[in-house]
Amino acid sequence: MKSVITGVAGFIGSHLAEKLLGLGHEVVGVDKFLDNYAREFKDSNLSQFAKHPSFKFINDDLVNIELHQLLNQTDYIFHLAAQPGVRSSWGEEFSHYSHNNILATQLLLEACKQVKVRKFVYASSSSVYGDTDDLPMRESGGTRPVSPYGVSKLAAEHLCYLYWKAFGIPTVSLRFFTVYGPRQRPDMFFHILMRRLLVDEEIPLYDDGKQSRDFTYCADIVDGLTAAAFYPGSGDVFNLGGGGEITLLNAIKLVEKVSGRKAKLKRFDRQRGDVRRTRASLGQAKKKLGYKPLVSLDEGLARQWEWISAMGK
Ligand code: NAD
Ligand code: UGA
Repeated sequence: MKSVITGVAGFIGSHLAEKLLGLGHEVVGVDKFLDNYAREFKDSNLSQFAKHPSFKFINDDLVNIELHQLLNQTDYIFHLAAQPGVRSSWGEEFSHYSHNNILATQLLLEACKQVKVRKFVYASSSSVYGDTDDLPMRESGGTRPVSPYGVSKLAAEHLCYLYWKAFGIPTVSLRFFTVYGPRQRPDMFFHILMRRLLVDEEIPLYDDGKQSRDFTYCADIVDGLTAAAFYPGSGDVFNLGGGGEITLLNAIKLVEKVSGRKAKLKRFDRQRGDVRRTRASLGQAKKKLGYKPLVSLDEGLARQWEWISAMGK
């Protein structure tokens, strides 16, 4: 089996590469080392499997690559490359979001018309829902993103559906809910919180701390990704959540317990682009993918703390 992973040097892509190599796949990973965060994190992610005999790395922008060649003889495409981050997607930054999230996806889908892949799995986002009181968020519910990032992820999701409908490309979109665990991006909350606990610095807390998230452990997301590749259907959209909802203040208490340290919080206003609550309905993913999140928040946070502590200050 040959799999292509876009965004392979990133947080989630690197975990997926390890799982697929473990399953015996030949993996071709693409990443352009976007400067959304320090290169050293991405180098470290890649170093975990870069020397595996079944792994090949292409350091380039998807928009510049000869995509037909890349996809030749490919069974599965896992399209994770993107400019992530909701709060940073306003203003001039949006051109990067449209390039990396929309244009790159459209080019990849175009290239799929000339090859025969078994599945094209797209990493979508809970941010496509926006603010809603209709919880849990269901795939059949409305989508009204509140950040330009969410708009870009929804646009790419629509492109996946279109190319399935018009050209029969077997796409499936997975809406990930705030993913955490070892290698989490340094702009995400648990990473910031743990690093600052380690060096005894103040932690920026946006809004009142009563906003909530359905946090999802990275290994559960990776299980959802492979299940979506191997299930017999296509043209679907599935939520991948952690199975719970917790306020930020309660999540901070869990991290304090895991780390044995006390957080010094510094309050800031609610940030534009942030949603107030997320909670995933998992019925569809359970029914069609057999998806079941296995790692509790306590356990997942303990593993992330262990990783961040091992990295040192
Ligand atoms: P990440 O930034 O760690 O990884 C994304 C990788 O894609 C980066 O290494 C970047 O260099 C690469 N990339 C970006 N544009 C590229 C391009 N044009 N060509 C080649 N490489 C490119 O992010 P992540 O947190 O691992 O997220 C992975 C995917 O999951 C993204 O699509 C993101 O939108 C989605 N997602 C993430 C979360 C989360 O909580 N982390 C939640 C919902 C959805
Ligand atoms: C995360 C990812 O960053 C997005 O890429 C992804 O698409 C999205 O999940 C998703 O589920 O679709 P977010 O939920 O904002 O976005 O995750 P964090 O960046 O970890 O933020 C979680 C909460 O912590 C937010 O309410 C945020 O306002 C808050 N926060 C973040 C702070 O209070 N302080 C900070 O310094 C950072």
